[in-house]
Amino acid sequence: MFEPTNIIVTGGCGFIGSNFVHYVVREHPGVHVTVLDKLTYAGNPENIAGLPEDRAELVVGDVCDRELLDRIVPGHDAIVHYAAESHNDNSIADPEPFLRTNVEGTYALLEAARKHGVRYHHISTDEVYGDLALDDPARFTEETPYRPSSPYSSTKASSDLLVRAWHRTFGVRATISNCSNNYGPYQHVEKFIPRQITNLIGGVRPKLYGDGLNVRDWIHTDDHSSAVWAVLTRGRAGETYLIGADGEKNNITVLREILKAFGRDEDDFDWVRDRPGHDRRYAIDSAKLRRELGWEPAHTDFAEGLAETIRWYRENEAWWRPAKAATEARYAAQGQ
Ligand code: NAD
Ligand code: TYD
Repeated sequence: MFEPTNIIVTGGCGFIGSNFVHYVVREHPGVHVTVLDKLTYAGNPENIAGLPEDRAELVVGDVCDRELLDRIVPGHDAIVHYAAESHNDNSIADPEPFLRTNVEGTYALLEAARKHGVRYHHISTDEVYGDLALDDPARFTEETPYRPSSPYSSTKASSDLLVRAWHRTFGVRATISNCSNNYGPYQHVEKFIPRQITNLIGGVRPKLYGDGLNVRDWIHTDDHSSAVWAVLTRGRAGETYLIGADGEKNNITVLREILKAFGRDEDDFDWVRDRPGHDRRYAIDSAKLRRELGWEPAHTDFAEGLAETIRWYRENEAWWRPAKAATEARYAAQGQ
């Protein structure tokens, strides 16, 4: 068992990264976290504000900055790499930052891990596997071939391949986890669930792409955090673990649950232009993670998790409001 005491969390001011920082501070009292975050449009220092100074520290910087990495990596025992450009629709509008942060940034961190001899955990996505048909009984496993569809998922796939090569060729002690769609607090309003919740709070009709039948496999972000901790501390170097909580639902079903929570009619939304190349279905088989590392999700009631998430957005309008108008203007320009 690996027992880290001083870890770097890249992208720790974003949605999933900041939830992981809160998780570590709450659940693992002996661990200090250095957050490395560039504070792009998706990063907000408020997400980790108020944590004890002796437990979490923010370094504002770019994961592509190798001089910076040489300064901060020594003295740490692990890097957990969350930082990324993470939104498919943005990657279709402009792929360039995805190449830079997701591919070049991972390369820079792997080189730092190699040079300074630190453990490396890579946060990836199920989207590297492409999509499944709605009527396909299969789910993704660690053996599923890579078949990414979008600029976003192809850059994530590329970064996974770098990690595998750096482990095999240079012996970097690296693990990879590929997780399904997360939901919970601190998610940017550009993403599906927060977009619809904040539309409804603001009296705007939700927007559904295509035919609404695309399936995503939802997991609460706290369950993602506990799984990453399990892989970081007990996973085998060189291995990949899929993270999922058996949460398959199609988009229209999720949207109708949100509409119901707001007391609105189930058809009170707008159909909008579909996403080009829109993946049909994602589904994760997390048997390896459960069997080898004994991990289980704690948030298995989606309706309850969604209700809590809605409550969080109602109570934290000051957090999301500043990003809302610009996000909707971008979508409107794309017919979405
Ligand atoms: P996010 O967009 O909310 O946050 C990304 C964070 O990375 C931000 O804080 C941003 O400022 C930071 N960042 C971006 N470029 C950077 C750079 N060059 N240097 C330093 N920091 C930089 O993303 P998220 O949804 O929290 O996703 C986090 C990770 O989890 C990503 O690697 C993503 O691929 C992966 N993932 C996301 C999901 C999901 O459902 N959102 C599912 C599976 C995997
Ligand atoms: P998203 O949150 O962007 O995650 P991902 O593309 O990584 O799965 O979208 C989730 C699903 O919701 C996806 O099928 C696209 C769809 N969607 C809508 O129908 N309307 C929206 O306004 C958005 C942002 C997404």
